[in-house]
Amino acid sequence: MKRQIAIVTGAAGGFGAAISKSLLEVGYAVAATDLDAAKLERLVQRLGAHEDLKTFVMDVTDPDQVEQCAAAIAESMGPNITVLVNNAGIIGRGFSLAEKSVLLSRQVIDVNLTGAFNCTSAFSRHMARLKYGRIINIASVAGLWGAAGGAAYAASKAGLIKASESWARELGPLNISVTAIAPGICKTEMLDRFVDSEAAMSVDEAKIVKSIVPVGRWGVPEDIAEVVTFLATCKTNYLNATVIPMDGGMRVGTL
Ligand SMILES: NC(=O)c1ccc[n+]([C@@H]2O[C@H](COP(=O)([O-])OP(=O)(O)OC[C@H]3O[C@@H](n4cnc5c(N)ncnc54)[C@H](O)[C@@H]3O)[C@@H](O)[C@H]2O)c1
Repeated sequence: MKRQIAIVTGAAGGFGAAISKSLLEVGYAVAATDLDAAKLERLVQRLGAHEDLKTFVMDVTDPDQVEQCAAAIAESMGPNITVLVNNAGIIGRGFSLAEKSVLLSRQVIDVNLTGAFNCTSAFSRHMARLKYGRIINIASVAGLWGAAGGAAYAASKAGLIKASESWARELGPLNISVTAIAPGICKTEMLDRFVDSEAAMSVDEAKIVKSIVPVGRWGVPEDIAEVVTFLATCKTNYLNATVIPMDGGMRVGTL
């Protein structure tokens, strides 16, 4: 197959930038998409001009924009779209009984879950034509365990995990495998937005990390990028419908 194209959503954020960099390094042409045009410019500055890196402004919540963007990517980069990383996401923080919680919940579910539906629908059709594809969904351990103050976020990620398993069933016969990664706590802007900084400053962070994460550190975007790249380049389609927790062993840490 000629040069393969990987689509990364939310590519200008913490994980997205590391995933784009890693996929470029293993030889993919990367369509880095994001809602935020200015952040995409900063991404290009950070990664350096690269003939295999192209940026596209795309709001994952807008199905028409996603369809148009898929067509624009195929037109400018070619039709060999074989990898989709559904990474765009937002975090909503708020007690579930709070008044604004319903509006916030809709936004979170719209981006994190409906956005992945829109992109999977648009880009998997390209993969179906090739009878080859790898779709990788960035979920969260919150989708496995729930999260106090993040009910909508946890629900969106649990939904994404079940959607991954359903797409794995639907698309498996077309040689398109679908997997999900459930990251634990990683240092990005998103985490800064979720954590109450005053409360955070009053605790001994290093002590907490050591007590709940067996490897003794929070994650970094490169941890997630490593596994995304493995899943993208994995030759076998037998790795399908799998959910990989990437949490440094946090789920067993408190024991
Ligand atoms: N950081 C963590 O600890 C953590 C843990 C588990 C899961 N995740 C998940 O990983 C993914 C990436 O998170 P991150 O930490 O890099 O966050 P981030 O805030 O650094 O990046 C998210 C990116 O998504 C983009 N985005 C937001 N809404 C969008 C929309 N409607 N359309 C297109 N792009 C949009 C933002 O502009 C931003 O560039 C998210 O799905 C998040 O839920 C993060």
